[in-house]
Amino acid sequence: MLYNEPSPHEVKILTRRFGLPDSASIKTYLKTDGYVAFEKALKMKPEEIIAEVKVSNLRGRGGAGFPTGMKWSFVPRTSPKPKYIVVNADESEPGTCKDRVLIENDPHQLIEGMLIAALAVDAHAGYIYIRGEYRYLIDIMDKAIAEAYEHGYLGRNLLGSNFHFDAFTHTGAGAYECGEESALLESLEGKRGVPRIRPPFPAVVGAFQSPTILNNVETFCAAPAILRDGGAAFAALGIPKAGGTKMTCLSGHVNKPGVYELPLGFPVKTMIEEVGGGIRNGRKLKAFVPGGSSCPVLTAAECEGLTMDYDAMARVKSMLGSGGVVVMDEDTCIVKVALRVMRFYAHESCGWCIPCREGTTWLRKLLQRFHDGHGQRSDIVLIGDLAKNMLGRTFCPLGDAAAMPTISFVEKFREEFEAHLDGRPCPFEHAEQLVMQ
Ligand SMILES: Cc1cc2nc3c(=O)[nH]c(=O)nc-3n(C[C@H](O)[C@H](O)[C@H](O)COP(=O)(O)O)c2cc1C
Repeated sequence: MLYNEPSPHEVKILTRRFGLPDSASIKTYLKTDGYVAFEKALKMKPEEIIAEVKVSNLRGRGGAGFPTGMKWSFVPRTSPKPKYIVVNADESEPGTCKDRVLIENDPHQLIEGMLIAALAVDAHAGYIYIRGEYRYLIDIMDKAIAEAYEHGYLGRNLLGSNFHFDAFTHTGAGAYECGEESALLESLEGKRGVPRIRPPFPAVVGAFQSPTILNNVETFCAAPAILRDGGAAFAALGIPKAGGTKMTCLSGHVNKPGVYELPLGFPVKTMIEEVGGGIRNGRKLKAFVPGGSSCPVLTAAECEGLTMDYDAMARVKSMLGSGGVVVMDEDTCIVKVALRVMRFYAHESCGWCIPCREGTTWLRKLLQRFHDGHGQRSDIVLIGDLAKNMLGRTFCPLGDAAAMPTISFVEKFREEFEAHLDGRPCPFEHAEQLVMQ
């Protein structure tokens, strides 16, 4: 199912089957080059597969942007332990809704991506960890898995080779923390979803204490195109050091919100104006979240000349993240956005580390007090200080994810916090407000 009209700016690699009749079926998949890359990979050596992924400059699409080929090369293939493939389909970052459209429209692309990764590290089982709220996707995925078994793309002696691979879906219970790779692995093993201390990283000690490739849905979905058309072709779609396309979830105050597949390095302004159809009601841009709620917010001035890529975002001290773009117009109350974001983190903190558990709750209370008009001038500094004290002090980056946007809100929009002082009502009280999903 398509949620929005495609844009002429899109480069359709991962979304090439979207809109085809019965696009999720194996029939459609096989008619459109499906499993061709897997057949090709079956004839390649594992190191050749990894080399191709390295050439593609594919970087992890789950948020951190770690080079995928390098991650795959960390798996000790000679280890006597079984190796596992784990797909992160938890998709909990507010503003992000791309993995669900990839699974809904083309689940076989994900299975093929898992198979390619499995060949690269000699894995024989893979798990797709899907967030609990995506119940309907589990049915789609299970149906695709059953079709793949029927057609000999899962199971034993695949395509006459001596390679075996089994795939399973596993339901999360809808906890943001279980999208964090080590908490996901704990949850997959049936334990409470709290983070593990690293190192060792999952590539060496992952699922069931064994070497594991854990990637985001979109990352695995890129593998078939890389193997089919070559890593160099994929790399050429993007920019140096970041190959390919990025599924971008454009939401907020744009006329045409939706999920768009755009080449890496796409200009932010063109994305808002042309892909998103401009800002609603002809309003001006106030703030821009590039990749989900954990990314530091950018001002309109910072968006000038900015492109959607990992390094460009790092230069303005933000992140490309998971591709969850949120556009906010001039009527948005930043204090309310900061509060809304912190309510999410305080609710979702798993409680394992004190700075995150206590820090997010204090910040939520402070921001609520502020928004209600009872804040004190000293609270503005306190909010920033509290957030800074959380940075880097937790086992997983959820604490950072809560702190980083908060610091940016108070530092870049201080005057909005001041406008809420002394019992004054919110200056944007009557404006239509943004609700982050
Ligand atoms: C609190 C938290 C939640 C996360 N949620 C997700 C998620 O829903 N999906 C995802 O792919 N990565 C998520 N991540 C990132 C993962 O830990 C991990 O870096 C990613 O799945 C690796 O895949 P990649 O290399 O393909 O990006 C989350 C990280 C944190 C700290």
